[in-house]
This record gives sequence, structure tokens and C-alpha cells, in this order.
Amino acid sequence: MNAKVVVVGSLNMDLVVRAQRLPRAGETLPGERFFTVPGGKGANQAVAAARLGASVAMIGNVGDDDYGRQLHQALSAEGIDCQGVSTCPGVSSGVALITVDAASQNCIVVIPGGNGLLTPQSVQHFEALLQAAQVVICQLEVPVETVAWTLKRAHDLGKQVILNPAPATGPLPAQWFAFIDYLTPNESEAEALTGIAVTDQASAQLAAERLLQAGAGKVIVTLGAQGALLVTPEGHQHYPAPVVQPLDTTAAGDTFIGGFAAGLVRGLEEGEAIAFGQRAAALSVTRAGAQPSIPYLAELVP
Ligand code: RIB
Repeated sequence: MNAKVVVVGSLNMDLVVRAQRLPRAGETLPGERFFTVPGGKGANQAVAAARLGASVAMIGNVGDDDYGRQLHQALSAEGIDCQGVSTCPGVSSGVALITVDAASQNCIVVIPGGNGLLTPQSVQHFEALLQAAQVVICQLEVPVETVAWTLKRAHDLGKQVILNPAPATGPLPAQWFAFIDYLTPNESEAEALTGIAVTDQASAQLAAERLLQAGAGKVIVTLGAQGALLVTPEGHQHYPAPVVQPLDTTAAGDTFIGGFAAGLVRGLEEGEAIAFGQRAAALSVTRAGAQPSIPYLAELVP
């Protein structure tokens, strides 16, 4: 079966510590719990799209180690086409060191490992997957030249292109914008891309309009509990977030993006797909960990 959603991006093993609060510089804190779970923004988005009803293929790299085998297995178990997931000899798999505090806030340090070796050529090798797709999703946890190549190729093939600009360290290359149908930053990413501090709907709109002026097709700023703001050349629309008691927000954004993409390929209208992604993300924040927290379609259907 041809996959409708193709994710080009990262796979990480998440090493998660829960503590009452995040440590300050130089401080040692007692933690409360430790666990390892499959994560990585790319893999999380692929899992979300698959669990939420899309046929999905992933293109990415793991290292030749136990984590790599577990990450590969985690995607296969979801029915994701993993022919594009390659094992890189002599390198570790990507890992993310994540601390989550009692208020469900997290901080993450990522070591790219095999993700850092994903080249444009390695994506091109699996171009048949891109050709068969309806939606292609990228993030920024693999080399920029690979993201650049994929965005352009997917656009030239006439696919719907979603860029989740995470993690964001500064403005995007100007030539990327013309290839992006949906740019989906959160508050801090929108600020990194534009220099505008995003704290509410008004500032999110300002930042999104800046990104539209740069050439992005449409912008969806995710604002956590404040919902999501869709900004297009025609206007803007706010989507309130479902009210939940958060336990762990890790992968909430990834769940939203995977759910949004799954909604699009399942034929939902744009606004319905946003609301669908939000419902999935809201459920994910009530659960611990990245991929274990992502809901299945049956959990969202009343
Ligand atoms: O978006 C959450 C993800 O970011 C985690 O799973 C971690 O691997 C990092 O990539």
C-alpha cells in the first residue's frame, strides 16, 4: 500500500527523568522516576499519523545499536512502512535526555547520532515514497541540507508540505518558504523564526503574518493551552484547546502535527483537521512519555 503521509526526520530514544522541578545550572537534584521510550520528533509524528488513521512511511536513520533496533521495531509495530529507515554502522542512535517536572514542563537535550547522517542522497534513494505521498512532513532534527532538499522535491512533486520548525534556533533560509504549505511553530519557535515574542493570540498573529510575508503558504501557531491560530493570506482563525489536566507535554506538538496530517489525508476540512489534531494532542498530554502518550483513532471517536 502506498503511504499517504511520509515523514522525513528523526528517531530518538528518549531517556526520561521525572523530578519535582527542573535543576538549575550546577545543581544535583533527586529524581522520582526514570524510563526509556521511543521518541524523536519525526518518529513521533509518524506514529501519531499512523495511530490516527493514515497510512504512513518514514525516512530516517538509526544507529547500529539496541536503541536503533527498538526504534525501528516501534515504528514497524504501528504498521508504518520502514523501508526508508536505514541503519548507520559505527554511529549511535539519536538520544534525547528529557527532564519533566511536577508542573509537566520539560527540558530536552538531543544528541543526533544517526539522524545527523541523513543526507539528501539518502532521501532521494527513497523518492518513490515521496512520489506516492499526499502529505510530506519535515522537522529540524536532521541536517538542514536534507530538509531543504526534501521540501523542494516534495513541493515540485505537488505534495502538501508541512514543516514543523523544531527545534528552531533562528530564522529559516528565505528560499524555503516557497516550498512550505503549512508552517507549524509553537510559541518559542515562532519567536526564534521572527524575533517577535509570542505569548498570546495577538503576538502569534503578528509573528505568523511575518512568516506569510516571507512566503509560507499558511501558518499554524500552536499555543499549548491557549489553542492554535491558523493564519492564511485570507485571514485568521483561532481554535481553542480542549481543557485537560496535563501530566507530560512531551510530543504534544508532534501528536498535533501527525493528527493534522492524518485528518487531511482522511479528507477532513482544514479546520476539522486542526481540531482533530488538537483533540489528539490534548489526550497525549495526560499521559507520560513521547510515543506511549499518543492516542489511537478509536480513543477520539465518541
Ligand atoms: O518533540 C518531542 C521529542 O523531541 C522527543 O521525543 C525527543 O526525542 C525530542 O526529539
